[in-house]
Amino acid sequence: MTSPTPDLSHFWMPFTANRRFKDAPRLFESAKGMYYTTVDGRQVLDGTAGLWCVNAGHGREEIVQAVAAQMSKMDFAPTFQMGHPLAFEAASKVAELMPAGLDRIFFTNSGSESVDTALKIVLAYHRARGEGQRTRFIGRERGYHGVGFGGISVGGIGANRKTFSGNLMPNVDHLPHTLNLAEGAFTRGQPAWGAHLADELERLLTLHDASTIAAVIVEPLAGSTGVLVPPKGYLERLRELCTKHGILLIFDEVITGFGRLGTPTASAYFNVKPDLITLAKAINNAAIPMGAVAVSRQLHDTVMNGAAENAIELFHGYTYSGHPVAAAAAIATLDLYQKEGLFARAQSLSADFENAAHELKGAPHVKDIRNLGLVAGIELETRSGEPGARAHEVFVKCFEKGVLLRYTADILAFSPPLIINRDEIGRIFSTVREVLREVK
Ligand SMILES: Cc1ncc(COP(=O)(O)O)c(C=O)c1O
Repeated sequence: MTSPTPDLSHFWMPFTANRRFKDAPRLFESAKGMYYTTVDGRQVLDGTAGLWCVNAGHGREEIVQAVAAQMSKMDFAPTFQMGHPLAFEAASKVAELMPAGLDRIFFTNSGSESVDTALKIVLAYHRARGEGQRTRFIGRERGYHGVGFGGISVGGIGANRKTFSGNLMPNVDHLPHTLNLAEGAFTRGQPAWGAHLADELERLLTLHDASTIAAVIVEPLAGSTGVLVPPKGYLERLRELCTKHGILLIFDEVITGFGRLGTPTASAYFNVKPDLITLAKAINNAAIPMGAVAVSRQLHDTVMNGAAENAIELFHGYTYSGHPVAAAAAIATLDLYQKEGLFARAQSLSADFENAAHELKGAPHVKDIRNLGLVAGIELETRSGEPGARAHEVFVKCFEKGVLLRYTADILAFSPPLIINRDEIGRIFSTVREVLREVK
């Protein structure tokens, strides 16, 4: 049965070609497990966990119940100079999953807010220890850190910066990105080439003077700009250089946090410990907006001790930081991940996922395939003069055949819920193969 189409004119859609969408809308109405159902009653296999966020699958009863119960018990309580137990409980549960020592948790409502919060905490830390001259941030080309002014400034996506370029945050520089198809096309897992690109940080340190640099921020695995897997040794080298020069390292784990690589964090996967980790999305299975920053105890304590007793230590926060319903969803979600062993499940599926993705080598238009954990990217040849057009067509045709994927420029991205099974993995990539044969 088809539901009536609502008036589409009022909602200005984010990161969407609004006019094209509204001419031919794609609307979901419900979701359960691995599947969305469209308003015209078609089942669509979710190859992207919504937007890299529904790691436990859709409509999980445990989360639904926790949210419903909390809504009736207490819909909202402030966390400015007040508190409620769930925010503290959720923070403890998040802390348990973080690398040792990164156990002080600041709650936000999104990845973008987590990034801006992390940048502010870094500045507050340096100031508290008498190094207030450390004001410069180093991001990376093709980095995505959300859409706040801080995030787009340290981010490295031209399109996200261009319109706002006159008002970006000052004192930001960028490392080069690490993707090189000439050296590493069709690499399974981490490329062998590229660790030396971390040494570009040395060049920036010489240029700006290390003592002016507050932090380096990178996604350990970049998702949104087309699945960029870090070269072997690259993150280790960044860590070494940051430590050597007193610079903090922020890992933006908004998509890698909570099992995407088969471990609680990418930091655990790569065995490289940053000083701060930004989180969101799968923190509560995306049921209610929530993000967080995990901060090392040492940073936290320095900021605490830098303020007068009884004074507010950090002039920052959101009305909804630690929102009780979001916190209830987080607690239920983190319990569910543990109860069902979903991180281990992701790990055990990652070889099959890798094989299924790489079987598309040689399919029409495929120029590169890259993967790690339950993430894969398939880069297509760009149709002359029409960047992104081929990937858009593949996306629409896959949707029509019942498979949801993401695309950015001409790169297809896959990041299914961790509850996916082997047949469903097979179906995602066989649908893509079929569609690649159909598009010109
Ligand atoms: C690495 C990273 N950082 C930040 C963000 C921004 O998160 P949000 O859209 O919740 O603001 C995203 C979103 O995809 C992301 O992938």
